[in-house]
Amino acid sequence: MDDPRGRLTKDGIRIYERGDFAGMQAAGECAARILDEVAPLVQPGATTEALDDFIRNRVTELGATSATIGYRGYRHASCISVNHVVCHGIPGPKVLKDGDILNIDVTVILDGWFGDTSRMYVAGTLSRKAERLLDVTHDALMIGIEKVKPGNTFGDIGHAIQTYVESQRMSVVRDFCGHGVGRVFHAPPNVLHYGRPGTGATLEEGMIFTIEPMVNLGRPETKVLADDWTAVTRDKSLSAQYEHSVGVTADGCEIFTLSPGGRFHPTWG
Ligand code: MF3
Ligand code: CO
Ligand code: CO
Repeated sequence: MDDPRGRLTKDGIRIYERGDFAGMQAAGECAARILDEVAPLVQPGATTEALDDFIRNRVTELGATSATIGYRGYRHASCISVNHVVCHGIPGPKVLKDGDILNIDVTVILDGWFGDTSRMYVAGTLSRKAERLLDVTHDALMIGIEKVKPGNTFGDIGHAIQTYVESQRMSVVRDFCGHGVGRVFHAPPNVLHYGRPGTGATLEEGMIFTIEPMVNLGRPETKVLADDWTAVTRDKSLSAQYEHSVGVTADGCEIFTLSPGGRFHPTWG
């Protein structure tokens, strides 16, 4: 897609203007608000398609459009990934049961800006081992975000995430990554959640991208099911993911997808 805004770095990464961040903030807040609002519906007995129906309606009511409906033939307003599903779970008649953990990933387009965020939920009671997985995955995202400032590299972000996750004896998924975002859904660079310090492109003020680590309790390998979308852990171990859209500022970053209600994590009330 043609996008005349800003300029491209030698690595093909778009540098947006500071004035552009307001558009991302509005889109990000819209997506985060919908993720707040769906929380009370995540209950044992609910189907994932009922959650998706709610999300689809709220996107429209808030004056946005869904970035996922029609994307490469995808037909839903969210991806809902339950238990050992790593990402890209397709909403359907599946009924949630007590103790299921799930990621809901929503991307909206508001005024031409793409707001992309996901977080974890629990149906009913959160088990101790699932709670640890959610805590580590959330903290891994925030540890990655702490590295977002001009002069650091994308390898610094990936290394911080990988080192932390592996110190907790969990594993980082290699097969999916974060991405540039902004006026388009998926743009350079690939934001890896593993890597070596000092490698990869250097961050500059004006870059906008997602960080969205997927963490497994078991091994990192994934496979895609016959539906050509759903990614699962090969060893069937539980998997979790958290995602924010961020923009690089002069001295750090702005998180566009903060939860308006302070509900980014299920144990936060
Ligand atoms: N929102 C996902 C991401 O974080 C992409 C979902 S694409 C879909 O990049 F088509 F599967 F919805
Ligand atoms: Co994303
Ligand atoms: Co997403």
